Amino acid sequence: MKITAIYAGTFDPVTRGHLDVMTRAGNMFDRVIVAVAASPGKKPLFNLSDRVALIERVLAGRENFDIQPFTGLLVEFAAAREASVIVRGLRSVTDFDYEVQIASFNRKMHPEIETAFVAAAAEYSFISSSLVREIASLGGDVSPFVDEPVERALQVQFG
Ligand code: COA
Repeated sequence: MKITAIYAGTFDPVTRGHLDVMTRAGNMFDRVIVAVAASPGKKPLFNLSDRVALIERVLAGRENFDIQPFTGLLVEFAAAREASVIVRGLRSVTDFDYEVQIASFNRKMHPEIETAFVAAAAEYSFISSSLVREIASLGGDVSPFVDEPVERALQVQFG
């Protein structure tokens, strides 16, 4: 039986930390849907189609990935796509309580969908998209944290 997993986030923008989790998910599951949340409440810097396009570029050539935008509840999106696993990256113990809470809500709504936690690589555990945006906005070097297409997109945004 082929297993489809979903890895969701706002990805504003996608970082090497996210890519690390995506790579691990791609090694574990037959197909990985990268679900890009509209997240209007976060007032993203990049619009939804740009965030999708950037992930398509950094994952170019990797065949078992499918990048899709979504709105609404993640667990409903997962069920509609017949994904049986939601992958979440854990960066540190501070992520844990919140993640377990979300996983419990999701299980209540769709008991057939399992949440799998993937430990992010230590060298990326401190990265967040908002810090990457802040460094870029202040003219700092983001190349250690994001792939080249993302670095260029940030340069365009911040001139
Ligand atoms: N490496 C680097 N950074 C990471 C990371 C990793 N492995 N994992 C997470 N992050 C960062 C993200 O970039 C983000 O940074 P930011 O806050 O600076 O932008 C932060 O950690 C939080 O990540 P995450 O918890 O994945 O939030 P998100 O906003 O990226 O995505 C959704 C959250 C979209 C998955 C979640 O809100 C969702 O599922 N929404 C739909 C509604 C829903 O179903 N809600 C649940 C109800 S029970």
